[in-house]
Amino acid sequence: MSHKVSVIFVCLGNICRSPTAHGVFRQLVIDEGLEHEILIDSAGTAAWHVGKHADQRSIRTAQGRGIDMMDLRARKVSLEDISDFDYVLAMDDSNYMDLQELSLHEDKNKIRMFLDFSKEYSETEVPDPYSGGQAGFNHVFDMVSSASSGLLADIKAKYL
Ligand code: 4NP
Repeated sequence: MSHKVSVIFVCLGNICRSPTAHGVFRQLVIDEGLEHEILIDSAGTAAWHVGKHADQRSIRTAQGRGIDMMDLRARKVSLEDISDFDYVLAMDDSNYMDLQELSLHEDKNKIRMFLDFSKEYSETEVPDPYSGGQAGFNHVFDMVSSASSGLLADIKAKYL
């Protein structure tokens, strides 16, 4: 059976924020038995970490909250991704602008800020935790969890 809807999470390196979103949202979808309905992926706007695991700090933070993302490998986002996926979700303004620049005219309205789906956070950006400490990774996880719930509610209302 083919999926009814598809989601791709996009950050800069595809080793911290977007794999965290991929892992958290995937678990939420599995918990609700919707893994055959919703296709999930993640990618980065930069190619620096292509082929690598997620950052160890992101993996450990997620593992501490019951989320396994050991299987994920970094890749670079493409124009085809933006055409193929229904939801193209940027973590920050810079990712959003890079995606807008890369995309075809007819796909531009699919590109959204992921945190806009959160009911708990009024900010719009999931901040880059790469050069900071553990608190930043915890903050990313909390934001991503909140936005994931809102995203699933949006998908259920529109597609399922
Ligand atoms: P991400 O974090 O975009 O959340 O994966 C980053 C990862 C790596 C770098 C920057 C941000 N970097 O400069 O290598």
